[in-house]
Amino acid sequence: MIKSSVFKDESTLFPEYVPPKLPHREKQLDQLMRIYRPLFSDKLVSVNSALVGQAGLGKTATSKLFGQKIQEMSKHSGSKILFEYMYCSTVRTLPAVLRQIIMKNWKKIPVMGITGNELIIEINDILKRENTRLIIALDDAKLLGGEAIHGLIRSAEYFGYGNAWVSTMIISRPEDWAAHLYPHLIEDVHSVIEFLRYTESELQEILTYRSSISFYEGVLSQENCNMVAKIASETGNARHGIEILRHAGYLAEKSEEKRIIPEMIRIAKNEVYPETSPEILRGLHRHELITALTTATTLKQEVAVPIHKAYEQYCIICEEYQTKPRSTRNFLNYIRVLTDIGLINAVVKNLKRGRRTVITLTDIPASVLEERARKLLEQKGKNSFD
Ligand SMILES: Nc1ncnc2c1ncn2[C@@H]1O[C@H](COP(=O)(O)OP(=O)(O)OP(=O)(O)O)[C@@H](O)[C@H]1O
Ligand SMILES: [Mg+2]
Repeated sequence: MIKSSVFKDESTLFPEYVPPKLPHREKQLDQLMRIYRPLFSDKLVSVNSALVGQAGLGKTATSKLFGQKIQEMSKHSGSKILFEYMYCSTVRTLPAVLRQIIMKNWKKIPVMGITGNELIIEINDILKRENTRLIIALDDAKLLGGEAIHGLIRSAEYFGYGNAWVSTMIISRPEDWAAHLYPHLIEDVHSVIEFLRYTESELQEILTYRSSISFYEGVLSQENCNMVAKIASETGNARHGIEILRHAGYLAEKSEEKRIIPEMIRIAKNEVYPETSPEILRGLHRHELITALTTATTLKQEVAVPIHKAYEQYCIICEEYQTKPRSTRNFLNYIRVLTDIGLINAVVKNLKRGRRTVITLTDIPASVLEERARKLLEQKGKNSFD
């Protein structure tokens, strides 16, 4: 690999990287430590919290960092605590979540053919046998739905008071929390931790820290870093700033001077779209991604596209990627998944000749969606079957 003269460690700007420190989220981390402290006591209680806030405010990062810290603490205390992070756009049902946790930690054979309730019993049995408390972090929990999560939390009662081995941490955007989760979880979730937008000076500190671990010294001046913070302060979203840093870094690398100048920040600013988590697309299966790409390419010119037209376009794109198109019924399912994760809208329109469903994009620009979907499809490769 050729050594970069700009990036000290480029991977620290990738979405999945969790920094060892989160400036201005210390309060939330402390709060979480306090809330989950009962797991270190002898009493078997279920602790359930919610992390609620808009895009890019550090919910996922805080939850993962908390997971690392609590597992570390449990090593030094007598209590065995297991923290499992689940991204619900990838693992979309409660049985799938439980099955994955069991397979990852205890059984290498698939636990298939067992229903949701049986899996809850199975996991409780294992936890009891192993004397281990489990915290499941359910990120983007909307797709799982409040009812299923309620069932999981309440299952403790089945085993009798003082026998709860499973705790949860529910992560979501405020609108999803209010509409899909809170109504079912009013009595289960005792602490809701709110994540507020970062201010400009908070973003300055966060981005200075993040650039210090990503770039060599001298690549980004304090003044230019503050310029990025100012742009990101329009959304209060840290991802916004970090994506600009990454793009500007690439531009700097291609340039003669090997450092970031204001013009690069201006160009990078137009290439990022921080409202959608990059993880959302990564959770999609191959044909769902092709469907996302279909909507993006069609909606570059049009405001809305009827379903049957979209299906025709889907078949063309399948050909481009040398994949056999699935049936229209499957295609409608893909559309439903994309609607559920909030990437597209499917609206029924009343026309003279009856009703028709048309697809529109929510707020991600079609060109950004196209680029991201294509990149992921290439990564997934032609041989993938999912
Ligand atoms: N306080 C912070 N310090 C350093 N980096 C941060 C901080 N807050 C967020 N980040 C970084 O910003 C990016 C976005 O954060 P994160 O993914 O946690 O947001 P989120 O609240 O989960 O957003 P979404 O609702 O879109 O999933 C990540 O790369 C994360 O590491
Ligand atoms: Mg997140």
